[in-house]
Amino acid sequence: MTLLQLYDVGELNDEVRALASRRDAVILAHNYQLPEIQDVADYVGDSLGLSRRAAASDASVIAFCGVHFMAETASVLSPDKTVLIPDRGAGCSLADAITPDQLAAWQAQHPGAITVMYVNTTAEIKAMTDYCVTSANAVSVVEHILREHGQDAEILFGPDMFLGAYVERRIGRALHVWDGECHVHAGIRPRDIEQVRAEHPGAEFLIHPECGCSTSVMEYAGAGDLESEGVHMLSTGGMLKYARDAQPGQKAIVATEIGMLHPLREAAPDAQFIAANERASCAYMKMTTLPKLRDALRDLVHEVKVPSDVAERARVPIERMIAIS
Ligand code: 13P
Ligand code: SF4
Repeated sequence: MTLLQLYDVGELNDEVRALASRRDAVILAHNYQLPEIQDVADYVGDSLGLSRRAAASDASVIAFCGVHFMAETASVLSPDKTVLIPDRGAGCSLADAITPDQLAAWQAQHPGAITVMYVNTTAEIKAMTDYCVTSANAVSVVEHILREHGQDAEILFGPDMFLGAYVERRIGRALHVWDGECHVHAGIRPRDIEQVRAEHPGAEFLIHPECGCSTSVMEYAGAGDLESEGVHMLSTGGMLKYARDAQPGQKAIVATEIGMLHPLREAAPDAQFIAANERASCAYMKMTTLPKLRDALRDLVHEVKVPSDVAERARVPIERMIAIS
């Protein structure tokens, strides 16, 4: 037990595992969750992997250790299951960046345009969307749309402007991009990269495309100011794959939420992972604790249930995305 933890992690881990088996529950956790939550989960992954697991699971209960839109996605994909979130307050600043009224007004300005939304959105927004994307598949889903609907198809892309800029650069054409951002990733600025680069010359870069530094790093790489082979724009799942293939002694600067350092270090204990900005912590992701997870499973509380009419429409863009990637 540490001074900050008023509970015994080992004891609670055992209690949670016993409750999960009593409730026929699967515990899913995002890569940004606290280490003790990642350690007790059945599956830890990125938002694409978690959606897939939620859809494929045959458990009666899904205890979702992540943020609210992720639990909603699980409920949309598995409407007959009980989806629990240990803390209802676990929101997402990016999902809050676009409301249904705002999206409806944007769509009205561009009749006939295809709406592509990041999974970091509410179920109501997904219900108004043609295709969802995650950071792992945004480029391939948009490329698919252009093949299906023509290279000039008009696309509304939201709500993350940095991910939008990344997709534009990769496909080589402009989209209409919403100007939302995640406050955690937007806070990883070009100056953080400058500083950490100077401290760790020769290190590679793992950069989440939601980051405020992503555009400038792509520019440095494009201008030859950084070795482009050493720059990897990756989802959190892509970062884990990088770690599994890493050589002992390999050094990488990680530009994303700092919870990611735990699974990376577990996957490659002999490599070195350095945070681009040590303050990049998502308070929403850290709201899930072992006592709250235990309480949710014990009392079957904090259910996330998307109304069936919304769920039916929201399922379409999510399933399209899963089928493509
Ligand atoms: P991924 O796990 O899809 O990379 O998403 C990161 C994120 O910010 C989730 O909130
Ligand atoms: Fe949302 Fe950003 Fe937190 Fe991810 S890191 S859950 S995008 S606020």
